[in-house]
Amino acid sequence: MSMESRIQVSETLKKAREYERKSITEEVNRQKPSFHVCAPVGWINDPNGFSVYKGEYHLFYQYYPYAKVWGPMHWGHSVSKDLVEWKDLPAALAPDKDYDSAGCFSGSALEYQGQHVLLYTGVEEKETENGKQIRQTQCLAIGDGTDYQKTEENPVIYPDGLPQGSSLEDFRDPKIWQEGDTFYAVVGSRSSDGSGQIPVYSSKDLRNWELVSILDKCENQYGKMWECPDFFFLDGKAVLLTSPQDMEAEGLEFHSGNGSLCIIGSCSREDFILHREKVQAIDYGLDFYAPQTTLTPDGRRVMIAWLQSWDNPLTPEHLAWGGMMTIPRELQVIDGRLYQNPVREMEQYRSEKVQYDCVRIREKQSLEGIRGRQIDLTVEIRGKDYDKFKIYLAMDKKHHTAVIYDRREGILTFDRRYSGDRRDRIHTREMEAEEKDGKLKLRILVDKYSVEIFVNDGEKAVSSLIYTGLEAEEIAFEAKGEAEISVCHYQMEKSEK
Ligand code: FRU
Repeated sequence: MSMESRIQVSETLKKAREYERKSITEEVNRQKPSFHVCAPVGWINDPNGFSVYKGEYHLFYQYYPYAKVWGPMHWGHSVSKDLVEWKDLPAALAPDKDYDSAGCFSGSALEYQGQHVLLYTGVEEKETENGKQIRQTQCLAIGDGTDYQKTEENPVIYPDGLPQGSSLEDFRDPKIWQEGDTFYAVVGSRSSDGSGQIPVYSSKDLRNWELVSILDKCENQYGKMWECPDFFFLDGKAVLLTSPQDMEAEGLEFHSGNGSLCIIGSCSREDFILHREKVQAIDYGLDFYAPQTTLTPDGRRVMIAWLQSWDNPLTPEHLAWGGMMTIPRELQVIDGRLYQNPVREMEQYRSEKVQYDCVRIREKQSLEGIRGRQIDLTVEIRGKDYDKFKIYLAMDKKHHTAVIYDRREGILTFDRRYSGDRRDRIHTREMEAEEKDGKLKLRILVDKYSVEIFVNDGEKAVSSLIYTGLEAEEIAFEAKGEAEISVCHYQMEKSEK
């Protein structure tokens, strides 16, 4: 019997698929960013199941189609040939079993023996004598790239075997990978001290899993619960990515609230214990959470994240969808630090190149041909005769979003106070940034409602949403003192395939 004929689509999933089909209109599609994944309709959060299946990239995501707020979690689904142009597929999972009736939470995917394997968190809520009891377990669904069957053995990983005192409620977001004939998964968990820990599990058959180790533990140092872990080896180092809840701000490295953490170190496959060498934030912008990676067929480690903030979600009323993903980024470890740059496939979508070399900037000025809301702009700033340099993006008479470099302090500020938001919330973020070889290099991607900045060839990334009206598309430069800049600017256009 073929897989297709075995897969039963539940009423809950049918309803979601029907709802999204009805909601997709030309107007809704026109409003969407060109290169950033967002839901057909409704709310999204974490990227899930980022994987290659039958030669195409699949990206799932936490999804509630019926409103632009978080609700009972489904998995939305999109597919791409090149990580840049994405096509919506019907929702893949809905909360339709006892063990996931309160939500199909985050998880991951891989291709195995021609099948697409999803490992996700089932959430169950029960009323008991002692009040509401929540249970999170890891569950399997296997499919053909469109339809997925939850397996009969579910749940396949329980929290019970964890060290004493570990939470039974906070046990989620499995990230699966395969090495030889063994499958591994890291899971977000909370230890007896109330803060995060990352257990590693292994399995030979995807159904029976055993605890291998506790890879790393928060010990109340970096936030509380560690969500959405990912673990891989890259450039000779072991890398753990995780998204801590309840962080306290620390210098300019970590901001408060839900943050992003990258731990780089060494780890042997014998014991799966991570020995830390470097701890850093993954992104320094206002909107970045829950990154997940996959390996491309040509061996690149590529990361995508939710471009939104839990404490400050920007979901404008006039749009049918809320939230989006970052641009996928190629990762490297250079000098013990995580570097990230937009996937090289983006470059195929560049057009209308405009270049300026060695332009002297003093008071605020625009440069002919440098404007737009779908752009790939690189600015190199040089000189010793300036204190501050400011780039105005998405600008009209009333609005702008600023990127400001304070050369004396070595601080880069992202400021979207004047991007048209009418709510009183955090709109600025500062981070440390230093000149390299006598210049600061900023590559800035704008795709309608997002700004992603890559500092010094990927040493730092800064990702934020801006919902400024699309008519605000001017760009200007300004220096306090005199700076010299080189600018390379492209419009980013979708192919007419
Ligand atoms: C992270 C997270 C995950 C969870 C999901 C629920 O943003 O809280 O830990 O699986 O969102 O939507």
